[in-house]
Amino acid sequence: MRAVDLIQKKRDGKSLNTEEMAWLIEQYAAGLVPDYQMSAFAMAVYFKGMSVAETMAMTLSMLKTGKEYDLSSISGIKVDKHSTGGVGDKVTLILVPLVASFGVPVAKMSGRGLGHTGGTLDKLEAIRGYQINLTEQDFLRQVREIGLSVIGQSDDLVKADKLLYALRDVTATVDIMPLIASSIMSKKIAAGADKILLDVTVGDGAFMKNEDEAQELAKIMVALGREMGRETIAVLTDMSQPLGLAIGNRLEVLEALSVMKGEGRDDLTDFICQLAQLMLDLVGKKVSLAEIREHLVGGQALEKFEAMVLAQGGDLEDLYRPVRVETIEEIRAEKEGYITQLPALYFGQLAMKLGAGREVKTDGLDYEAGIVFEKKVGDWVRKGQVVAKLYTNKKIDEKWLTECQKNVKIGDEKIEPKEIIKVIS
Ligand code: URA
Repeated sequence: MRAVDLIQKKRDGKSLNTEEMAWLIEQYAAGLVPDYQMSAFAMAVYFKGMSVAETMAMTLSMLKTGKEYDLSSISGIKVDKHSTGGVGDKVTLILVPLVASFGVPVAKMSGRGLGHTGGTLDKLEAIRGYQINLTEQDFLRQVREIGLSVIGQSDDLVKADKLLYALRDVTATVDIMPLIASSIMSKKIAAGADKILLDVTVGDGAFMKNEDEAQELAKIMVALGREMGRETIAVLTDMSQPLGLAIGNRLEVLEALSVMKGEGRDDLTDFICQLAQLMLDLVGKKVSLAEIREHLVGGQALEKFEAMVLAQGGDLEDLYRPVRVETIEEIRAEKEGYITQLPALYFGQLAMKLGAGREVKTDGLDYEAGIVFEKKVGDWVRKGQVVAKLYTNKKIDEKWLTECQKNVKIGDEKIEPKEIIKVIS
């Protein structure tokens, strides 16, 4: 077989069969198909798409380019969760200990943030000492002993995705549905959990900008999971505005702690409880929302979270300290009314400029930087009232402040935001 023939086949709108897909992915992971041919292939997929059968073949072939974790030494049904990415998304920090507080083991591998989206690993590394690299043995032992662990994605997992994702990132081929589906699902299957909850974000700050696209992606991934013997469900969740109040690594850890102390905003608290109910349901535990809320606001999730931080070398004193920045700028409402929009993409990019994110993979991070909202979509504001605070150690450009004010949209009509749009199972 030759890569050029497979690229041409896809370019002409034809489907690759299982052998062809397996050959292409295997040769790419082995360094025998060069990046320039793989990027041509990814661009051909962008224009011509892939059938469900091709996406399945690609997922299986990717899976075979790395090791699969065996979680069988952990008793009970293991459940995992994955988000397709967003702004202010601190869900894992709260949901994992909450689900673990019901005795359900959670062994989770997370990723880093890139561009306007944040990553759980960066948030955890904002806690002094927290180790994201555990050996497989230590990872499994910790889950057996305390019921949870969140670590970085292991290097030996799905090698083809590691190479391909980096390539897609610099060739404008990230936002392609079958490539996103095979990338996520190959990693989820390799990570070894029995059941999977997928949080497919929708809106301005997400890969999927509208509900129809998000639903299609969710359906493909649910089908892939099922086909590989892992019960999978997906929720479509709103990412038109940032999630919760904080964007930025330490700021999001602090918001997660406030939710786990029962001091978080109701909408975020309720949202996490609904996701926890779905995860618990997946492992056959029927728990009422009231009971889940009690675990969350009553400190049981926090106890698990602290145990995980300690077990992974984190410093509990540092965990609770406030952020340290040189500058805090307030953004005030230009007029009275309801907040109608806080565009997630814009605020994610602003947080990145303040130091909270990376434009390219090699950029350093300022864990302290970010944005905290005092008002969200649907809230009433008076003229001059503070809507958000910008935290940074950089010199603030005056242009950022005027732009930021313009992006706080205020109108006469109250909009009711909806965190969970739909469940796909
Ligand atoms: N997250 C992934 O892991 N892969 C993608 O392709 C997109 C989001």
